[in-house]
Amino acid sequence: MKEQRFATYEEMSRQAAEAIAAVVRAKPDAVLGLATGSTPVGTYRHLVRMHREDGLDFSRVTTVNLDEYLGLPGSHEQSYRHFMEEHLFRHVNVDPSRTFLPDGLAEDPAEEGRRYDALVESLGGTDIQLLGIGLDGHIGFNEPCDEFVRPTHAVDLDPSTIRANARFFASESEVPRRAITMGMGAIFGARRILLLAAGEAKLSIFEAAARGAITPRVPASILQLHPDASFFFTRDRGE
Ligand code: F6R
Repeated sequence: MKEQRFATYEEMSRQAAEAIAAVVRAKPDAVLGLATGSTPVGTYRHLVRMHREDGLDFSRVTTVNLDEYLGLPGSHEQSYRHFMEEHLFRHVNVDPSRTFLPDGLAEDPAEEGRRYDALVESLGGTDIQLLGIGLDGHIGFNEPCDEFVRPTHAVDLDPSTIRANARFFASESEVPRRAITMGMGAIFGARRILLLAAGEAKLSIFEAAARGAITPRVPASILQLHPDASFFFTRDRGE
């Protein structure tokens, strides 16, 4: 696992976008594992710029996102599908039919989890997986628990995650209580992992994930065992 620190959010985002662009240039039909949240917004901004200015070509790329709220349709303003459309998909030439997220309206989340894992497997896994990290060490919505969960599965969100995500909703009561997330199997199966963390508040969990005990109480810590994982950190939140 490689750890890199950056002076600014901007510089971290540029480097993250460069890493993703390098994968796409080397393999035009790459499968990109993508994340939502505040942290990757700068990375997506740079990818859009590279598409516009340098002709970075997404026409053969496939994307698979980590997670989606349960109960929200993709058209909902706070759905992760909507987030991805706003920050990346509609600004680049990715084929909309090759952009995948778990279905937040799935009637049977366990069945949806199996379908999603089969999809990722049929794509041959992801070439690079972009990740943020929650204040409690979650990746995707794999919250701290007693054991690492391998398949894509439904989760009850941790109260700290609901509080942290309330900033995107009119009130905390509107934040969905459940989500469906890629499990550790699909995340860890990525050929390359890029985890980003920004802001002083993330420093202690970042260090626990990068150098602390490997435990499902800090879900991101398992990435210490990945053969090609990079952890990027900046104190700058970029606001
Ligand atoms: C989002 C996701 C989450 C976030 C994490 C950090 O798809 O999987 O694990 O990466 O909650 O969120 P931000 O970047 O908003 O601090």
